[in-house]
Parts: sequence; structure tokens; C-alpha cells
Amino acid sequence: MQSAPIGVLDSGMGGLSVLHALKRAMPHERFIYFGDNANAPYGPRPPEEIRALTSRTAQKLIDRGVKALVIACNTANSAAGELLRARLPIPVVGVEPDLADAHDRANGKRVLVFATQATLALPLYRDMRRRLCPEAISIPAPELVMMVERGVLSGEEPEAFFREKLRPWAAEEIGAIVLGCTHFIFLRPLLSSIVPGVPVFDGVEPVIDDLRETLLRAGALSQTGEGGAELLTSSDEPDIRARMRALLAAEL
Ligand code: DGL
Repeated sequence: MQSAPIGVLDSGMGGLSVLHALKRAMPHERFIYFGDNANAPYGPRPPEEIRALTSRTAQKLIDRGVKALVIACNTANSAAGELLRARLPIPVVGVEPDLADAHDRANGKRVLVFATQATLALPLYRDMRRRLCPEAISIPAPELVMMVERGVLSGEEPEAFFREKLRPWAAEEIGAIVLGCTHFIFLRPLLSSIVPGVPVFDGVEPVIDDLRETLLRAGALSQTGEGGAELLTSSDEPDIRARMRALLAAEL
């Protein structure tokens, strides 16, 4: 059990940011990543479709013998997390917008939440917002998903997008920013250069803690061994694996 790999899934490239952090935090683990790039983005799809696509990918990873599953996609976790946790024979953890930490750090100022349309509309986020961070301002940002899918992590296009979305607030009014989509984590260095000093929360640390505790409890945490990551995708674009490897190696 300890030596079995851990499955990590996303609609496409975004979850590679989570995989990057997982590899660093758990160097002895082997990971199998599946990006459903052929069907990305998930954000504009109805919840039933996101559930079906996520379940299909989860099954592919189960068939590869994974000992646990990380849903490295806020959208997939919001739509399908509960279902997969109830149905799958292995532990399932998932990333969600970190409203609790953002609220604690915001000192009563605005909390801006960038996420997909689906994440912002689904009950997981709506309930968390009501309970933990009613001051949150929800900003759908599907454009950023496609930029990251194309490998655009800096420059005029994402910078203009952020400047436009942040225009209504002076920097002093913003207490925290939540990146509620794993694709956006690749744009964090750019965002922080636009609003330096504003704390940015991406929900990755909580999911790593959750995974570590879950594996420890099950006696399934790998403490020795080489570790590594295998990258799989549903897309047959010729350069896709090279783009995945480049993102996984990006400075975060
Ligand atoms: N990486 C995604 C997330 O965390 C999904 C983006 C998309 O496919 O629309 O929400």
C-alpha cells in the first residue's frame, strides 16, 4: 500500500501547480497526474457534465492502482468531490477556495476571490462564503484558465486582465486575494507584482496537510523510496507533454 502511487487530477494544466507542491512536500511519493486537457475548460460546463468527466478520470487513476486521489481542481472538487468521496474505495482529498485563511488575514478589508463560473455558482463555495467570509467579492475569471492552458504565465495579456478586474479597488482596500482555481497559481508571481504585499491564498497547503494526515492514519504514507511523477493527458496535441513538463518545472 505504501509504495502505491497517488493520483492527481485536473481539467488540464492547473493541477500541475498542486503536483509541484505535493512533490516538494512528499518527496518519497510517486504521483500519477491526469490532465483532462481534451475537455478543458470545465468551468463553463454544467455540474452533471463536470461530475461525469471527473468520475471518468478518477476511474482511470483507480485502474492504475492509486492509493489516494487528489482532486487538484476547485471546479471538479466543487462538483464531484462529495460524490467521489462516497463512491471510491480510496481516500479522496480536494482543493477548495481558502476563504477561512483569507478572512483571518484580511483585517476587515475586501477579500477578492478569482475562480471559475462553476466554482462560484456551486454550493461548496456559496456555503463557505456565507459561513466564513461574507465580505468576499466573487470574480469569475475563465479567461485566465485558457491563458494558462496556452502556457501564457506573464506579459501583457494576463497583466491587463488583472489590472482591469482590480480597477474598482485601491490596493489599501484589498485585505487578501483567493486563487480559487489551480490554473491561477501559475499567475501568482504576476499578480503579486501588481498588488505587492497583499496576501494571496491558493488552498494548496490545506490539501497537502489533509492528504498527509489521511495517509498517515491509513499507514500508507511513503517514507522511503525515490518518488516521482508520471504525466498523463486525454489530449493528443503533439507538444502537450512538453508543455506539461515546462509548467511542472515553472518557478512558483
Ligand atoms: N483548474 C481548475 C480549477 O481549479 C479548472 C479550470 C477549468 O477547467 O475551467 O478550478
